[in-house]
Amino acid sequence: MKKTNPILAPSILAGDFSRLGEEMTFINESQADWLHVDVMDGRFVPNISFGVPVVKALKAACTKPLDVHLMIVEPEKYLPVFRDCGADILTVHYETCPNLHRTLQSIRELGAKAGVALNPHTPVSVLEDVLEEVDLVCLMSVNPGFGGQKFIYRTLEKIRQLKEQIIIRNLSTLIEIDGGVGLQNAESILKAGADVLVAGSSVFRADDPNKAIQRFKEIFKGGITA
Ligand code: DX5
Ligand code: ZN
Repeated sequence: MKKTNPILAPSILAGDFSRLGEEMTFINESQADWLHVDVMDGRFVPNISFGVPVVKALKAACTKPLDVHLMIVEPEKYLPVFRDCGADILTVHYETCPNLHRTLQSIRELGAKAGVALNPHTPVSVLEDVLEEVDLVCLMSVNPGFGGQKFIYRTLEKIRQLKEQIIIRNLSTLIEIDGGVGLQNAESILKAGADVLVAGSSVFRADDPNKAIQRFKEIFKGGITA
């Protein structure tokens, strides 16, 4: 994917599910770049969030690209349906894909950007032989399944290791950081080499969500820090 300014992807998991339409109006009118959409199956992760009909409804209401994070087993079975309902980026977990290379190729064949997510215990080295097939690597900075958890600082080292590989190999793979991202750590995450920051609670649960997005953007520009 083409390198741009850092990308902010608020996660709707932390939004108010009884007011999804209004939440989408807020996202559309804000400086958010993407909408991060967490699909959980209660099998790969110990929580169930929402599925295809909700993603479809979000797509209908959201003008920003949909960054769909599949925390589900056998994701290859559901790639076409999530693509059909509007996913622009489809991210599968390394830990759920015995045939990851094929799965990534399938995502690209469907016309979406191909993402792969790594759990905190999975080293970035496992991607060595597929990096060319990946548009986005999502490094989980919490254990997946829930919003509002504490950022695992070891992730910064993983960002640096992955960034080095991307540069050496002259790739344009984006590095996304997901979990526990807030105004207090955004700068160090970007400095380590991240391109995309997912922010759930730190946007939707902020006293003033719009201001939170503006603050993130100021940090992205290297301006005012939190
Ligand atoms: C965790 C999800 C995250 C979550 C982030 O399993 O993948 O995307 O929504 O939420 P915060 O930013 O609150 O940690
Ligand atoms: Zn996520």
